[in-house]
Amino acid sequence: MPDTKPATILIIDDDADMRYSLARVLSTQGYKVSEAGSGEDGVAAVKKGPPPDLIFLDIRMGGMSGIEALQHIRSINARQLVILMTAFGTAQTAIEAMKYGAFDYIMKPFDPAKVIALAAKGVQAHADMRAAGDYQTTVNPDDYREGIVGSAPVMQDVFKIIGQVTASDVTVMITGESGTGKELVANSIWKHSHRANKRFIAVNCAAIPENLIESELFGHEKGSFTGATTQRIGKFELCDGGTIFLDEIGDMALATQTKILRVLQQGEIQRVGGTETIRVNVRIIAATNKDLEAMVKAKTFREDLYYRLNVVRIKMPPLRDRPGDIPQIVDYCLQKLSREKKTRVTKVSPEVLALFAKHTWPGNVRELENVIYRSAVVAQGDAILVKDLPAELGGSAISQSAAPFEAAASAPTAGAITVESAYDFLAKTLAAADAPIIPAVSAALARRVLAAVDGNETVAAKQLGVTKPALKKLLG
Ligand SMILES: Nc1ncnc2c1ncn2[C@@H]1O[C@H](COP(=O)(O)OP(=O)(O)OP(=O)(O)O)[C@@H](O)[C@H]1O
Ligand SMILES: [Mg+2]
Repeated sequence: MPDTKPATILIIDDDADMRYSLARVLSTQGYKVSEAGSGEDGVAAVKKGPPPDLIFLDIRMGGMSGIEALQHIRSINARQLVILMTAFGTAQTAIEAMKYGAFDYIMKPFDPAKVIALAAKGVQAHADMRAAGDYQTTVNPDDYREGIVGSAPVMQDVFKIIGQVTASDVTVMITGESGTGKELVANSIWKHSHRANKRFIAVNCAAIPENLIESELFGHEKGSFTGATTQRIGKFELCDGGTIFLDEIGDMALATQTKILRVLQQGEIQRVGGTETIRVNVRIIAATNKDLEAMVKAKTFREDLYYRLNVVRIKMPPLRDRPGDIPQIVDYCLQKLSREKKTRVTKVSPEVLALFAKHTWPGNVRELENVIYRSAVVAQGDAILVKDLPAELGGSAISQSAAPFEAAASAPTAGAITVESAYDFLAKTLAAADAPIIPAVSAALARRVLAAVDGNETVAAKQLGVTKPALKKLLG
């Protein structure tokens, strides 16, 4: 059912003329506007409620400052969207405003068209957030203990096999694309097994250079090769009684494969350069995202080792095969973040979920996790909206975070950006950004230089060290 009530906007400014003209512009758009003449009055109005859809808040006021008021308002209602108004476009202000959770900010004197566009954007974001309001947690508390989320039948099968292999020492081979949770499953098998009180050592076979992997796994005797100045105890010996996770086993050299086979068959190892045979009792779990069957055919993976490892096979499904699990994983990630007190974001809008359902997730759960973490950093209310998503998912997180810089750079008070403040802002923007930031920054810089030379493109191009067509391209 469409919401027919007009959206409400509260203007907080100690300048009566400013309130008047802003209220007039906004009223023409059909908004229901109320006013407060100080930070204190504004905060009181928010406390009293009902909360307006959007607040325009002046930064510079006698008494309580805009930034202070913003902090109060956001502690009363973390979802309140606030647009800050300022006459001083410094990077510092931009950073502060966004840091304290402003939705956006606008420079005085106003361009009415900009005010109208910004108000529409804010009111829409408020509506999106309200629509996301019904989102209920789907995560079962048990999932947190386990760390593996999923209720799709394919995942239930995975859980069942994990349960079945924990009682014995059977060798398990976990396959699946990158980021599908292979290591998570290996860890879970170990935690539930009778070896849980002994070590779990993960060895990434792809990350260790071929000439070192044997020494890493089996140890070496002093003087056994150049650089072996002391004796070394290998992972298998260290892990006696425990569980070894051989990750990326498809990247293991044939010579090493032979030695692994020996451990599996005879339960013994020899240190590199040593003659002594050492008995070890380890359980092996292996994982790979390679097609081992094809490697066996191509003779790059030993067939006998393949059969030894592949006693029980767990195939991790790609995320795109279980899109129904996405909301649960999203919820899980957000709750993890908020329990670590890293964000106040607790949900995503239905539009975001729809985009997630359409995405193919080549990086699987790891990719989804990253998208959530990055978006939660730039989200302003308690919900991740489409605009907070990285560009590849249809969002505009980059332009969103570059906006304050653009505004600051085109400010009439040129020179107000100190090198430090610009640097600080850039660092923060880069940390939150995920798409190329250079174009946004270059454009802002070009505009600023152009303003400084009174719009003379020839001079501006010279100062920037680019050609005039290049300058025009930068300006867009
Ligand atoms: N089912 C799941 N529920 C919750 N988190 C998951 C799930 N699957 C994977 N993850 C998370 O995704 C990330 C990647 O998982 P993991 O390292 O186990 O994947 P992988 O299959 O070993 O990937 P790679 O092949 O790249 O090594 C981890 O942060 C993990 O916690
Ligand atoms: Mg892994």
